[in-house]
Amino acid sequence: MASFELDSTLVLLCLVFVVSCFAVVVRGSGTGRKYGVRAVPPGPLALPIIGNLHKLGGAHPHRSLQGLARRHGPLFLLHLGSVPTVVVSSASLAEALLRTQDHVFCSRPQPYTARGTLYGCRDIAFSPYGEKWRQIRRIAVVHLLSMKRVDSFRALRVEEVARFVQRIGAASGRERVDVSELIIDLTNTVISKAAFGNKLGGMEPATVRDMMKELTVLLGTIAVSDVFPRLGWLDWAMGLDARVKRTAARLDTVVERTLAEHEGNRVKDGEACDLLDDLLSIYKDGDQGFKLDRTDVKALILDMFIAGTDTIYKTIEWTMAELVRNPREMAKVQYEVRLHAAASAQGVVLEEELEKMSLLHAAIKEALRLHPPVPLLIPRESIEDTRLHGYDILAKTRVMVNTWAIGRDSESWENAEEFLPERFIGQAMEYNGKDTRFIPFGAGRRGCPGIAFGTRLVELTLANMMYHFDWKLPNGQDIESFELIESSGLSPGLKSALILAVKPL
Ligand code: HEM
Repeated sequence: MASFELDSTLVLLCLVFVVSCFAVVVRGSGTGRKYGVRAVPPGPLALPIIGNLHKLGGAHPHRSLQGLARRHGPLFLLHLGSVPTVVVSSASLAEALLRTQDHVFCSRPQPYTARGTLYGCRDIAFSPYGEKWRQIRRIAVVHLLSMKRVDSFRALRVEEVARFVQRIGAASGRERVDVSELIIDLTNTVISKAAFGNKLGGMEPATVRDMMKELTVLLGTIAVSDVFPRLGWLDWAMGLDARVKRTAARLDTVVERTLAEHEGNRVKDGEACDLLDDLLSIYKDGDQGFKLDRTDVKALILDMFIAGTDTIYKTIEWTMAELVRNPREMAKVQYEVRLHAAASAQGVVLEEELEKMSLLHAAIKEALRLHPPVPLLIPRESIEDTRLHGYDILAKTRVMVNTWAIGRDSESWENAEEFLPERFIGQAMEYNGKDTRFIPFGAGRRGCPGIAFGTRLVELTLANMMYHFDWKLPNGQDIESFELIESSGLSPGLKSALILAVKPL
């Protein structure tokens, strides 16, 4: 789902400094004290005021949290400022939380930046659990992201992947091709055209792309008020409030203009419609007695962008990087793709053939196991008091599920750190989260509704990269020196762009 670019070191330093200057003691009145009389989950000692904020670690919170799980167990409690947060790091606890007690851990906290930019969290991903969330999620699942709707975008995918193949073809023979840039461009274009078609209200596609980038950066920023609810004024003093308002106003202008163009230019019979057209019909006619309002439409369409672009692009990029680092695996996948693929008139591998490519699917799953694009899922919040693993968890406790650590847990995976796609062959381990050893899309009622939309583009893109081209590291670089270093933030991609030498088949 969303990309979280979080410079947590800077945020933490500012927090520690500013908060200690004002010496406001908030822990005493926090939920931490309420935990005192109950079976409290274990966890590291909390410092005054900041609690365990410093334990999140600067660049890679999922790694720091894995380290803490090794010390404190698969379920432990942190105090992020004054907010109690439970962290879960094993498949069996994920099963208990996301499946058995899904009805308890089904809400989300509403971060400050999401409230400010997503119309008070009226989207799906940040919406609190309740009737409204149920209705908008149903609309997304039935109308926007269903298998039938995903199929209806086949022509769009084929056209854009054909353009992508041509662009790589034009660069082939060169020693250094920026593969990351080409993948980002492809995923942005597909999502933008699926959501808005070509009706961008007179805006350049690049403007829309920049706006969405700004939004994802902002959504990855932890506000002071998220961890110290009583110190909201610091968000204003530190300029975050102004930044959120500025971004929200610009986004709203963009979405309003595209909405107006869609309203003035309704689809005629037989014409392809985009997701905004779908939402506008529901806005006009209602759906099973439920009426969307204009703000719901805007929040929902933004959700498709934030949830879809970075996740898809990072999945393709990590799979490609792992295949390049493991040339034997790449050769096997390439052999399989070339054996089964038949190309369409545009020279693109046909989607119908993808089903036969089990090794390609296995390679994607293996990349998602090692590099889930949302390594801590989207935080959950409990809606009532409950017991988990023998501990009391109070209502409104935040929960993080470390899917990154679960994917690398040696209890569940042999040679867990190695890229071995064949481990998925013959395993009934799908993306739906039924087996909680593998949950890159989350699980349960808040699990990702965009699985089919996302995986179809990932598979088609990679099949074409394998079918048409041979790939290797540039300038004779050897495999041993090719390290896969993660970027910082809560949704890490590759730290540096993936630069490869490419040769057409
Ligand atoms: C490879 C691609 C993708 C990955 C890895 C991914 C991953 C995730 C994850 C981990 C969550 C949180 C699940 C949880 O809390 O249990 C999520 C939620 C969500 N995703 Fe995706 N996602 C992908 C693609 C998409 C696409 C293409 C869309 C829509 C266009 C989408 C829409 C959503 C929405 C709306 C939610 C929030 C669901 C809710 O809170 O009810 N995702 N996704």
